[in-house]
Amino acid sequence: MSRRGFEGAGIFCVEDLRRRARKKLPRFVFDFVEGAAGNESTLQRNLDAFGQVTITPRLGGCVGVSTRCKLLGQDYDAPFGIAPLGLADLIGPEADVILAHAAASANIPYICSAAAGTGVEEVIRRTGRVPWFQLYCPRDEAVTNAILSRLEIAGVDVLVITVDVPVPGRRIRDLRNGLALPLRPGARLIADCMLSPQWTMRRLIGRKISFPNFERHMPRASMPFNEVMGLQTGGLLDWQRLQRLREQWPRKLVIKGVLCADDAVRAAKIGADGVIVSNHGGRQFDAAPAAIRCLPSVKKAVPESAVMLDSGIRSGTDVARAIGLGAEIAWIGRPFLYALAAFGEAGPSELIRMLITDFRNVLAVAGRADTNELSSQLLD
Ligand SMILES: Cc1cc2nc3c(=O)[nH]c(=O)nc-3n(C[C@H](O)[C@H](O)[C@H](O)COP(=O)(O)O)c2cc1C
Repeated sequence: MSRRGFEGAGIFCVEDLRRRARKKLPRFVFDFVEGAAGNESTLQRNLDAFGQVTITPRLGGCVGVSTRCKLLGQDYDAPFGIAPLGLADLIGPEADVILAHAAASANIPYICSAAAGTGVEEVIRRTGRVPWFQLYCPRDEAVTNAILSRLEIAGVDVLVITVDVPVPGRRIRDLRNGLALPLRPGARLIADCMLSPQWTMRRLIGRKISFPNFERHMPRASMPFNEVMGLQTGGLLDWQRLQRLREQWPRKLVIKGVLCADDAVRAAKIGADGVIVSNHGGRQFDAAPAAIRCLPSVKKAVPESAVMLDSGIRSGTDVARAIGLGAEIAWIGRPFLYALAAFGEAGPSELIRMLITDFRNVLAVAGRADTNELSSQLLD
């Protein structure tokens, strides 16, 4: 990338990045990143809903606005972070380390997925920073306990439990493409790969896709992805199980995938420190409401909890909309994978810069000196 960053490369927004990523990735990989459940109406609803949220410009004389924020006792330089992204190595080798590194350099939070291609210990060693860690609820409680001990030893402070995957999402694009791991070389896959020679070379010479956060708990050394996910998500996840998890995990606990106020209240009652209002970017359920629409009622129900949001954030302006509607921080998924696919290692850091510039502009136009002044401003 040129010294002029994204703009020098003709990238001015996330949509530009998405288009560039589409050109660089084989079709089945792009579809895996982009796709959502069913007719993908939740995905579209997420994006449309942000356009409906307005922030009234106000004269504030804000010159040196500050984008800093505090979350669960930590200081960050911007109120957004990188959401957990399992199987990111499909974009290219070392994806998780690149994302974690970009977040660490910019001092924004990063959530390492249980399905990451790099073990959490290695992420820590290579970035010098401990990420948050996301876990589905493993079927076997002994496995859960072993993972929790391992996370404690690694020094993880915030555990995120994703609760919106009681069954795997039915993503039509992946079903049509026959996406399976290990990849099954058929005529279509080979043709797809030939159209993306750079991706294919990187994948051929790079580290094989694996699941080091989970590997030692797998009954067989090499298992297909859907079976690995089955082990991770097939457990009965109800409030009793979450309560037990709360009792077992002595540090901060966040529940990801909450969309209604009642669930947020129950999460607070069992002692969760925060919730992420999320519909998994529309990847789980085609009839879910837009996450941003659910945010105000959740915030009102649990004003003392750390309320966060993801699903559909595509700009710094969207981050500001989320903060204005009561989120303490916004998490971003697909755009970081587009940035990685489009520009490799340089992409995620550039994206962070672009989002911060945009967020900073919103603060200035809205006449707010910092993230705090914007916080919950749009709630009535
Ligand atoms: C390729 C991909 C993999 C994901 N993997 C996980 C995961 O392992 N765990 C999880 O809790 N959420 C996962 N998510 C959901 C994200 O954490 C986040 O909720 C979602 O991407 C937010 O929506 P956005 O992509 O519109 O920003 C994944 C999303 C994508 C696109």
